[in-house]
Amino acid sequence: MIQSLIAILDLGSTENAAIARAVRAQGVYSEIFPHDIAPQQLKSVPGICGIIVNGGENRVVDGVAIDVDAGIYSLGIPVLAVDHSSPTHPADLPQWESDPSAALNAFIERCGAARNWNMENFIADQIELLQKQIGSRKVLLALSGGVDSSVVAALLIKAVGDQLTCVHVNHGLLRKGEPEQVVRVFRDELGANLVYVDAVDRFLDKLAGVADPERKRKIIGAEFIRVFEEEARKLDGIELLGQGTIYPDIIESGTKTAKMVKSHHNVGGLPEDLQFELDEPLKMLFKDEVRACGKALGLPDDMVYRQPFPGPGLGVRCLGAITRDRLEIVREADAILREEFRNVGLEGKVWQYFTVVPDFKSTGVRNHARSMEYPVILRAVNTVDAMTATVEPVHWDVLLKITDRILAEVPGCNRVLYDMSPKPVATIEWE
Ligand code: XMP
Repeated sequence: MIQSLIAILDLGSTENAAIARAVRAQGVYSEIFPHDIAPQQLKSVPGICGIIVNGGENRVVDGVAIDVDAGIYSLGIPVLAVDHSSPTHPADLPQWESDPSAALNAFIERCGAARNWNMENFIADQIELLQKQIGSRKVLLALSGGVDSSVVAALLIKAVGDQLTCVHVNHGLLRKGEPEQVVRVFRDELGANLVYVDAVDRFLDKLAGVADPERKRKIIGAEFIRVFEEEARKLDGIELLGQGTIYPDIIESGTKTAKMVKSHHNVGGLPEDLQFELDEPLKMLFKDEVRACGKALGLPDDMVYRQPFPGPGLGVRCLGAITRDRLEIVREADAILREEFRNVGLEGKVWQYFTVVPDFKSTGVRNHARSMEYPVILRAVNTVDAMTATVEPVHWDVLLKITDRILAEVPGCNRVLYDMSPKPVATIEWE
């Protein structure tokens, strides 16, 4: 189906993504294009029925003022200027600065746009596109169990069934129950062709004695690629690689006019010389749309609404050189924290929450005798972009309940602490 599309011309404003989100929230598909796209090229974009021009602080790049090609104003396509340095804002529409949502709504009506942007249509379109692209060829996907790779897997299963092979690498640094959930949902319930790789010993052996956080991260990343490549080599005739790239990855990687926020390597850090054609069905979706897509595809809520989890997993929460006993403490205590947050309705409300175990012990008493055991640190933070973060003011009773449970149920620890530090000066993770 050809969707109506409203194009946003990128003059370097940091608001472009928010405007695209706002248009989509009104049921019309929207995409960001370079500011200097040729008018005729813009006119040939399938479904285009409106143009939004939005400038910003980067409108002067290297001392040279930038602007859209004036030809866009005579294409016969309605144009809405939302930064008041552009020449046109239709006078009869509500003014952007007083009511952006009413202005957008009226503009969408003016464009005659069909409000047909929804997940059911998106899924139907993507399945058709994937089937056309893939044909009878085979696709490979690194399935971590994170939201993006899980949704890509569910889409690909619907599109090409057992032409897809998913590889799930258990590096031993996943949370309690995660590898089992991936196998249950994808192999047992969705019938995926899933290769489960138990690489726990291999990762923990490589990490033994390594205390430096960046070295730990590098080892985990490099070993992941090695394991994945080994599995890929065992499979015959794979030509395509599924990727969980999403729209913010593309926007944040920088356009001609928007500054680069951070560079995004493809998901899982797979090397470019893997020589596969890519399938990136989510590359035009924002994160909340990815979740809506996963839900519409029938994935369980705790997979779709999962809190962010770092690639190196519990490896950066078991401080210093990773040991199996402390890894178990982090994992078990994390499961208790998550369960108690779910019980009091904090799941899905707090942005990220987890446990940390340092590499030192403290004195305690157990069975009337002095004992030396590890402390467990609880951390719960809220943030919009992970650049700054505030601490969740968890109710005292909830903290006490979590503390009691950890001390009673997790062997090897004798203290529980709550981390009260915002970012900055602290970071979210401890390593
Ligand atoms: P920090 O600790 O830098 O964390 O305040 C910000 C966010 O990034 C996540 N994080 C990582 N994610 N690989 C990842 O994929 C990493 O090495 C990594 N380190 C931190 C962290 O969980 C938080 O959400």
